[in-house]
Amino acid sequence: MELGLVELLRAAWIAGTLPILIASLPCSWLGSFHGVVLGFGRRGKIMQSSAHYKFTVPQRFFSHFYVVAVAWTTLLLLATWMYACRMAPIVSEPFFYSDLGSYLAGRSNIFSFHRSRLISSENKYRIWLSVFLLLLMEVQVLRRLFETVYVFRYSASARMHIFGYLTGLFFYTVAPLTLCCTCAPEVFKFGINEVTEFLVKGRSSMQAIEFHWWNFVNPFSKLGWCQWIGAAIVLWGWIHQHRCHAILGSLREHVGKIDEYVIPRGDWFEIVSSPHYLAEIVIYAGMVFASGGADLTIWLLFGFVVANLVFAAAETHRWYLQKFDNYPSDRVAIIPFIC
Ligand SMILES: NC(=O)c1ccc[n+]([C@@H]2O[C@H](COP(=O)([O-])OP(=O)(O)OC[C@H]3O[C@@H](n4cnc5c(N)ncnc54)[C@H](OP(=O)(O)O)[C@@H]3O)[C@@H](O)[C@H]2O)c1
Repeated sequence: MELGLVELLRAAWIAGTLPILIASLPCSWLGSFHGVVLGFGRRGKIMQSSAHYKFTVPQRFFSHFYVVAVAWTTLLLLATWMYACRMAPIVSEPFFYSDLGSYLAGRSNIFSFHRSRLISSENKYRIWLSVFLLLLMEVQVLRRLFETVYVFRYSASARMHIFGYLTGLFFYTVAPLTLCCTCAPEVFKFGINEVTEFLVKGRSSMQAIEFHWWNFVNPFSKLGWCQWIGAAIVLWGWIHQHRCHAILGSLREHVGKIDEYVIPRGDWFEIVSSPHYLAEIVIYAGMVFASGGADLTIWLLFGFVVANLVFAAAETHRWYLQKFDNYPSDRVAIIPFIC
């Protein structure tokens, strides 16, 4: 049986989530396994001892994740958007039929074989949905890149485990791909054909792409209420995560020391210890909603995000309780009023 992209992505998310779930089980005989997973995931304030410096990188390398994420998400977004406009136009049907007419009139060739395929309405919708999800991801990773450079003030001594670093790079490569996995193989083929055609025939003989901005944007108006409610949920999480990051970034301005820790206050910090992780979960929940909730691969991505961040938040909460005697007793780790 041939393994496709979707199966590989699902296997990757399950392989990433299972160890965290197992390490979270409340079994004493799993204690050492819990310690191993925790060791890999530790960073910043919860990796203070110099004994742990082996196999670590500076925590400011977090910015690498978002450089990769912005470059990769932008590439996927542009390629999928271009593919959607050329192969799955929703408003300007004449444009679509002119391609078909051109093919039937014998103007097709080996480089434009892909243009000959008729795309059903259902598939058009699926392609435009991928463009929409990638747009949401783009908005998220652009803000995160900005914050790692301009908002956070990483202390020089803050480190993260090399395994956590590689996991971050893996995450931001595989997550955008997951959001467009149902059409990614055809987009890759389309991209390769376009590049080959360009290289062999030269720019002048390629089919001119007429830029009508309306064709690029109008198909989004055909998306359903699920997509817009999902986008509103993403926006809600996005705003709160930015506020919480601004609070974290400003904490050291007040104490004046780059490696000092204080109890954060304001916004969702009033109810949980890791509101920025909670906001991240809200953002990915919004993406699941926007996807229509029928794509198992996107659910598995969401499962990984929840498992990873709940695990990290539990450790962060323990750290706050140990570090500060006056830590607010009504604050829980990550799920408001629950845990
Ligand atoms: N999608 C995912 O699976 C995933 C995984 C990981 C992270 N993320 C996201 O990435 C973002 C950043 O995560 P992170 O784990 O790097 O956050 P973090 O450990 O809370 O650190 C963020 C920054 O704030 C500083 N800081 C944290 N608590 C502080 C305190 N009490 N006093 C003073 N400074 C404090 C940290 O300093 P130190 O460096 O000195 O600790 C660091 O510079 C989060 O919003 C998270 O959701 C997402």
